[in-house]
Amino acid sequence: MTHETALCILAAGKGTRMRSDLPKVLHAVAGSSMLGHALRAGAACDPARVVVVTGHQSARVAEAAAALAPGATCVEQSPQLGTGHAVTMAEPALSGFEGDVFVLFGDTPLIRPETLLAMRDARKGGAEVVVLGFEAAEPGGYGRLILDGTGALDRIVEAKEATAEELAVTLCNSGVMLVPGPALFRLLSKVTNDNAKGEYYLTDIVGLARAEGLACAAVRCDETETLGVNSRIDLAAAEAAWQARARTAAMAAGVTMTAPETVFLSHDTEIGPDAVIEPHVVFGPGVRVDGGATIRAFSHLEGCTVARGAVIGPYARLRPGADIGEDAKVGNFVEVKAATFGKGAKANHLTYIGDAEIGAGANVGAGTITCNYDGVLKHRTTVGAGAFIGSNTALVAPVAIGEGAMVGAGSTITRDVEPDALALTRAPREDRPAFVAKLRAKLTEIKARRKAGKG
Ligand code: UD1
Ligand code: MG
Repeated sequence: MTHETALCILAAGKGTRMRSDLPKVLHAVAGSSMLGHALRAGAACDPARVVVVTGHQSARVAEAAAALAPGATCVEQSPQLGTGHAVTMAEPALSGFEGDVFVLFGDTPLIRPETLLAMRDARKGGAEVVVLGFEAAEPGGYGRLILDGTGALDRIVEAKEATAEELAVTLCNSGVMLVPGPALFRLLSKVTNDNAKGEYYLTDIVGLARAEGLACAAVRCDETETLGVNSRIDLAAAEAAWQARARTAAMAAGVTMTAPETVFLSHDTEIGPDAVIEPHVVFGPGVRVDGGATIRAFSHLEGCTVARGAVIGPYARLRPGADIGEDAKVGNFVEVKAATFGKGAKANHLTYIGDAEIGAGANVGAGTITCNYDGVLKHRTTVGAGAFIGSNTALVAPVAIGEGAMVGAGSTITRDVEPDALALTRAPREDRPAFVAKLRAKLTEIKARRKAGKG
């Protein structure tokens, strides 16, 4: 028996209750489409083939699948005649595949890779068909897993077909299954649509397998893992469950969170041990924070890295391509995009640094702006190690400030500055002694005359 696996992700459904122009499986949880979550969970099984069954807005879903899993094959299911019919669509793409096929739903973003591995263990234990079940708080419309006297899985009954006795069963079908490819398609060829919905039910293959004398098993997982998204309300519930799980995992791995319920992570956020995340921090996709860094309250980070000892925020914004070096500081109301900060570099207040390199130990004063965009092109700014940029400076890129140089406050710098030089651009100052006292006296006299009606 080979243990090579393939993934078959069902993503044809319309998702009417989402009330959206976007196909349901492309709605995001933790910064990734639900389809992405299904593909990533499945990737833990190192699949030899990946098939995505599309239907509603097929081209759009296929495009997303190709970006997420370049080797995936997309097959279109039109019309959509049920979950069994959907899996049948994958048969040509899986022809010659002798290994096990995982069937996953594209709208179930919380399934953990560990759970899929537990299903694979059950297969290794000899079950031909392995179904993922859960104890439902409210079994409602879910299919029921009916066990035989030995605790083995006997059949799945859809709620619409179930007797009162079967409806009382709380062990429900998540929809995830693991079956050897040849058996899967042989059993599916026997499935009919002679049922309450007039659909080809994937779930019927369990009873058919038992009739062939094959063993079937149910693997259990927590109900939150099987949460399926059908509406925006479900989407928010999935997000909340995902966040709760990710925060707990981060803290268990050594991250301090003062108010974890206010921190929002992305599917790929990496935070090292002994990092401190203060309240109300939002991580967009693509962030890595090294151990020992501090992200202070109300900061927003995406597509960036923060090295050990660095302090970000409060109220900082790190955009894609921000790479903040060891012990560097990015303070309040500072925005950084596509820019590197060397070790110990600082921009503590009210600054925009875009398309730039800030050298080690450089100090960027309050209100400094890298003027990186001329309306058409983007240009780079380089600030050498140990340089000092005075407050309220405009660095008009392309421009380089040499190592150890100083720029006087309020300057607009359009040409490179030599290392260790001072550069400043200021209008000459004019002083008029006593001018204001005289002006004030004159204006006060005018006001008094107007009040007396003398114009
Ligand atoms: C299904 C299961 C049920 C289980 C429940 C868990 C069947 C017959 N029933 O019911 O036992 O408790 O999921 O949520 O399998 N899809 C297609 N093509 C189709 C039909 C569906 O791709 O023709 C996709 C949908 O997009 C969705 C998934 O399959 O991602 C499940 O379909 P859905 O209609 O939600 O099945 P349920 O009735 O919820
Ligand atoms: Mg459903």
